[in-house]
Amino acid sequence: MEEELQRIGAEALTEIARAGSEAEVEASRVKYLGRAGSVSAWSERMKSLAKEEKPRIGKLLNETRAAVAEALERRRAALDSEKDARAFASLDISLPGTPVRPGGLHPITLLQDRAAAVFRRMGFALAEGPDVETEWHCFDALNTPPDHPARNERDTFYLPDGRLLRTHTSTVQIRAMEQAPPPVRIIAPGAAYRRDEIDATHLAQFTQMEGLYVDRGVSVADLKGTLEFFFRELLGAGAKCRFRPHFFPFTEPSFEIDIRARASGKWLELAGCGMVDPAVFEAVNGKRGDAAYDPEEYTGFAFGFGLDRLAMILSDVPDIRGFIENDVRFLSQFR
Ligand code: PHE
Repeated sequence: MEEELQRIGAEALTEIARAGSEAEVEASRVKYLGRAGSVSAWSERMKSLAKEEKPRIGKLLNETRAAVAEALERRRAALDSEKDARAFASLDISLPGTPVRPGGLHPITLLQDRAAAVFRRMGFALAEGPDVETEWHCFDALNTPPDHPARNERDTFYLPDGRLLRTHTSTVQIRAMEQAPPPVRIIAPGAAYRRDEIDATHLAQFTQMEGLYVDRGVSVADLKGTLEFFFRELLGAGAKCRFRPHFFPFTEPSFEIDIRARASGKWLELAGCGMVDPAVFEAVNGKRGDAAYDPEEYTGFAFGFGLDRLAMILSDVPDIRGFIENDVRFLSQFR
């Protein structure tokens, strides 16, 4: 009896060790440990054994069953890892992976952030206004007469409902003063739109940064000091600023600012600025319905410059179109 049981056990172990697939392992399990399996059949036979034989045979039966179960388990695991090994055989995990190239901010965004950081140190807060504007905010409130060339349909994008794409960010001066009484000290970066022919120095959509400071006793000296500080911070201590008299309907006096980044370099026209025209304060008061911006009590300065222009000067970019062509070879040079 014992011999027969041992023989079945040995046979089971050999067969399981040879099993070449999951299915063959499963077939062996059914054959030996299944309900009608040969090891299981021995449990039945136990009942008819003599009392003194039961413990011995019982023990052997348990050992055989455990050994067969363990062999099945081991063979399954071995087949599994063989399968993994086959799957990885053609894979060289020592090869370098596919690099993921991190993206970056657009050069104009980077410059905008740098510029904003300099103004923030001087107490300027960020303000915004819509790109689609009313004619009133873009021109009338900014003291621009009805026959001014900037209002021309050939220069400005008008919407069918009479609104327009703002031609400059000076609209945000008006919106900031509508919203809060003085003092105001804001910068407003954003898009501006003009119906320009696109070439190396012009885009139909470009980016400006506007500034406005209104308080008691603000003077041209404050305007000059603020902007000279700003341009030196951005371009280096060697940069020179030149204020040239100019005309804007919404400032009086008005200036254009030229910058020379290097001693040898050319003067480049970069920004417009001036002292807020009292007519602008009156327009804002009219809209507000109060006299918060009393021109007898308050003065202010405003400025606006093109960020694309400034980026071109800072990085020696020969063609403004580089900023809108989305060529990674160009964009990835600004980080
Ligand atoms: N808005 C003017 C422009 O786009 C610039 C400017 C802003 C001038 C503020 C004076 C004051 O040319």
